[in-house]
Amino acid sequence: MTMKKRPVILDGDPGHDDAIAWVVAASVPEFDIKAITTVAGNQTLAKVTYNAQRIAALLHLDVPVAKGRPVPLMSDLIIAPNFHGQSGLDGPQLPEPARGVSPLSAIEMMAKVLRESEEKVTIIATGPQTNVGALLLTHPELKDKIEVISTMGGGIRNGNWTPAAEFNILVDPEASYIENVSGVPLQMCGLDVTEQAIVYPEDWEKIRALGNPVAKVVAEWFDFFFIHLSELGWKGATLHDPCAVLSLVHPEIFDIRDYYVITELGGQYTRGETVADVYGITGNKPNCRAVVGLDREKFVDYLIEACRTYDGWEVE
Ligand code: BDR
Ligand code: CA
Repeated sequence: MTMKKRPVILDGDPGHDDAIAWVVAASVPEFDIKAITTVAGNQTLAKVTYNAQRIAALLHLDVPVAKGRPVPLMSDLIIAPNFHGQSGLDGPQLPEPARGVSPLSAIEMMAKVLRESEEKVTIIATGPQTNVGALLLTHPELKDKIEVISTMGGGIRNGNWTPAAEFNILVDPEASYIENVSGVPLQMCGLDVTEQAIVYPEDWEKIRALGNPVAKVVAEWFDFFFIHLSELGWKGATLHDPCAVLSLVHPEIFDIRDYYVITELGGQYTRGETVADVYGITGNKPNCRAVVGLDREKFVDYLIEACRTYDGWEVE
């Protein structure tokens, strides 16, 4: 019997943890990855798109790569070279792109995939939510074709770029707000969970020891990603974006709560904060599955297993 596959769009700004999220996504047998779409965030759009093409080549993902929005809907772009380097994905050498960039924009590509799919489509969005926000604004008729938007972004307890706001949401709060009020099922991996998704050097040495070409690259991505994190005092790498993948595939290892969540657009100190109604004070119905915790050891086990699926691959 053939397995019923789940159509998936990967939207992100790779970025080391986006790249590792895609390594995990590409290893999931029930995922049918239909397209990769890119968004400005960790680096400029041109750089993250080139990175996306090279990651697709590394993973033998023969799917269209479509370029998204070069700037947030209303804010100026913020980039994160301190974490991801000048290329947005500094560290190991990667294969050159195996195919060109799609002539369709990310929003056109997402709309096409949604329109043509018989099954509802899962969107995994691990950068600023600009493309997804623009899609929801311009194609409201396609909302029903979305199974869930699984995001890395926000945080109920704290931010990381301001005391209140996490990077992806701070870059484009309006796009996040559009998702909040869209009525589309949302799953949010904020810093509450992703700062518990710590991968220690001894964990990624196990990945390196697998010895396959993808695992070696993943270990070297960790080496680079950890440089700035260790300067900030972290003892391991906070592996944000893979949470948005693994919380879909293995929800049983995560602590997931239904909350009403709304993104702050104004605020003297709080623009980009994802405000969660934890106690149900507003009376608003939950609009979000907020992922707030995880079993770290099982998370690392699944990460290593994902990297093991590339055993036997030839070095390019
Ligand atoms: C988020 O910001 C980016 O730098 C990472 O890729 C992740 O998506 C964490 O705040
Ligand atoms: Ca990201």
